[in-house]
Amino acid sequence: MNHKRVLRLAVTVAATGALAAGMTMTLTSTASAGTTLKASAAEKGRYFGAAVAGQKLSDSTYVTILNREFNSVVAENDMKWDATEPQQGRFNYTGGDRLVAHAQANGQSVRGHALLWYQQQPGWARDMSGSALRSAMMNHVTQVATHFRGKIHSWDVVNEAFADGNSGARRDSNLQRTGNDWIEAAFYAARAADPGAKLCYNDYNTDGINAKSTGIYNMVRDFKSRGVPIDCVGFQSHLGTSLSSDYQANLQRFADLDVDVQITELDVMSGGNQANIFAGVTRACMNVSRCTGITTWGVRDCDSWRGSDNALLFECSGNKKAAYTSVLNALNAGPAITPSPTTPGPTTPGPTTPPPTTPPPTTPPPGPEGCTASVSLNSWTGGFVASVKVTAGSAGTNGWNVSVTLPGGASVTNTWSATASGSTGTVRFANVNYNGRLAAGQVAEFGFQGTGSGAGMTPTCTAS
Ligand code: XIL
Repeated sequence: MNHKRVLRLAVTVAATGALAAGMTMTLTSTASAGTTLKASAAEKGRYFGAAVAGQKLSDSTYVTILNREFNSVVAENDMKWDATEPQQGRFNYTGGDRLVAHAQANGQSVRGHALLWYQQQPGWARDMSGSALRSAMMNHVTQVATHFRGKIHSWDVVNEAFADGNSGARRDSNLQRTGNDWIEAAFYAARAADPGAKLCYNDYNTDGINAKSTGIYNMVRDFKSRGVPIDCVGFQSHLGTSLSSDYQANLQRFADLDVDVQITELDVMSGGNQANIFAGVTRACMNVSRCTGITTWGVRDCDSWRGSDNALLFECSGNKKAAYTSVLNALNAGPAITPSPTTPGPTTPGPTTPPPTTPPPTTPPPGPEGCTASVSLNSWTGGFVASVKVTAGSAGTNGWNVSVTLPGGASVTNTWSATASGSTGTVRFANVNYNGRLAAGQVAEFGFQGTGSGAGMTPTCTAS
């Protein structure tokens, strides 16, 4: 064994030891040298998972890669409604239990997918509607989440409930037609059945700030403000030949709502950009401290539901692809999750340099009651997204209001992390319950989307 190999092993063992002792948050160094996806992710406090098709568990090439590289698994189909409740009230957990047993024998955690989805419903449920369907849905959530209680780290409680396109609205489905509150009802039922699992909303075409992801964002914000038990949002990330430049910003705006985010079904069209796109997604997750893990939707290209797209990290032979190396490198280069020490750190001595002799600035900092706001704009023809920073003055704030005068013809269509009054002319944005109270100098961020031009907006901030 050469020296380099010994060093690598030592790093892995030390990191694994720290994780086992529950000290993930004490990891401070950034560069690391894991040699498998799961080791490199674990060194950064994350998991790296794969969707597993039950019948592949007897394929030894497949299982070798699965157990060497992945420390989380999710059933590609075996925990869906048609698989788990083929006849009403008759539950079949054969496939799900087999996957859980595999995971437990191999040190893997399990994501649950998916309790309610408009697809892959058993025929009997597809034929139902109204209150009969609603109670069948809730019973399904309760029974399945109870069966797997204590074995699932995160459940996709609801999958794909939003429409594609520009509406930002819910998708029509038999589930949706039972009443708009079906999603929150499902989350309450899941929490009651398995209080230890993180409860996620999961969807696709949410790979940047767009109408669909904003519709979901607004739902999650509403759920958080009303205490609906949601803990995480899954971004499926079935990707083509490019990655949206605001992919990371989109993850971050959800994280800022106080939910975890997870990349849940990652696969990428093959071609020149595949390795870069995989790396870009991995970097985005590493750069968002609430991004707790990445799952690829399968193991090898020939295991993928995307057929000839060759969308995964391994060739059918088991060989690692360029995309594998780019993901591994991005994991190793990523920052560890920000430490949050429970004991105070050492007190460092104050600076010994004399105070500066330059005169004080002529514009005084915001007064005791004050706050300042600044806008940064991302515009396209016919629309814009404005990100606003609110900075508290020397006395801090109990709440804040930001007024913005829009150019003629512009109007606000969506707001996050603030409440808007009005949509044209002068629009007032007030804090929401979790971001009004700021210490001196502390910053809150909110944003809004609009149609027309957002050019030249000058915000004014008042604090209370
Ligand atoms: C897919 C599976 O990979 C296929 O085997 C199955 O035939 C159809 O479903 N979004 C999801 C996943 O949430 O459950 C889907 O999985 C892929 C799209």
